[in-house]
Amino acid sequence: MQASFVSESATAESLQYGPVAVPQPGAGEVLIRVRAASLDRVDSYLRRGTHGMAVRTPTVLGRDMAGTVVALGPGVTGITEGDEVVALGRGTHAEFAVAPALHTLPRPADWTDAQAAALPTAGRTAYDAVANLARVRPGETVLVIAAGGAVGTFAVQYARALGARVLATAGSADKRDAAVRLGAETAFDHYADDLVERLTEQTAGAGVEVVIESAGGELWTALQSVLARGGRMVTCGVTAGARANIHLGKLMVNGWRIHGIGRPGPAEVAAHLRDSLALSRSIARRPVVDRVYALSDASAAHDQLESSQFFGRIVLAPAAQ
Ligand SMILES: NC(=O)c1ccc[n+]([C@@H]2O[C@H](COP(=O)([O-])OP(=O)(O)OC[C@H]3O[C@@H](n4cnc5c(N)ncnc54)[C@H](OP(=O)(O)O)[C@@H]3O)[C@@H](O)[C@H]2O)c1
Repeated sequence: MQASFVSESATAESLQYGPVAVPQPGAGEVLIRVRAASLDRVDSYLRRGTHGMAVRTPTVLGRDMAGTVVALGPGVTGITEGDEVVALGRGTHAEFAVAPALHTLPRPADWTDAQAAALPTAGRTAYDAVANLARVRPGETVLVIAAGGAVGTFAVQYARALGARVLATAGSADKRDAAVRLGAETAFDHYADDLVERLTEQTAGAGVEVVIESAGGELWTALQSVLARGGRMVTCGVTAGARANIHLGKLMVNGWRIHGIGRPGPAEVAAHLRDSLALSRSIARRPVVDRVYALSDASAAHDQLESSQFFGRIVLAPAAQ
């Protein structure tokens, strides 16, 4: 089969497109003919060997996919060959990939393959952040940082679905407009705006009850000036930086709860996936796809991801088989 894979040392040039062996499903796994696979920020980290990530080469990147089940490993029940599915697996930037049956769900019939492939990692992370960790309640004000990223687009939708007022940030006017169309009341520029001033104004001095954030870095200083007493902050990424200054006095006095998204086990991931898909379905909102690239053009897709010039998910599609 054809695949996009990291060939040797982790550099921008290490990404190759060519033949690799079709993987075999192990016990409890299914083999899927991939129709669409999303490109995740982690794929870029792995390709370049940044953020403490490295792969044994050669490695086919990618975790999210939509496609057709073509073989079952031992012990799989409840899934049959021919099922159209959305799954969180491994090596999905290829014509075939394997996923645990536990992380393989029916694909909504009215979603495209690209939309379905956009959900698993970002949707389940946003769901866990918004619903389980922050426990967003109706009427609360939720600030979503980097609302144009994959996680951000889901977080805006899910916080709105739970009845919150959503404020957002994004790095371009186009993304801010798109965030508002997605459900944010307004959106600010996390590079140029004085977030403390703008958010204080926007909340009449009350601050926000919840922050869903995946950038990290210096932004945390501003966020601590606008998080309300008893506020919750969930961090699920460090796109801008892994270190931040935390004002322990404010943390203590305000009783903030700061949650890391963590590394949930397989059963929890399965629950997040199921709940995320169900919530997206119940509010009739589809995952946001920015652009679909041919799998053979994965290198250009990585370039776009690394430029941050996209809204939602970038998706790869193998040639029709
Ligand atoms: N731990 C987990 O399980 C887990 C799961 C999913 C994601 N993550 C992590 O969470 C982060 C977000 O994931 P994602 O899939 O949403 O990524 P993404 O789609 O690549 O979006 C990241 C966004 O961050 C914004 N950004 C870049 N530099 C920034 C800065 N200095 N300040 C604020 N925003 C900045 C960019 O948009 P602008 O143009 O608006 O700046 C970009 O669109 C990534 O680091 C990812 O690895 C972790």
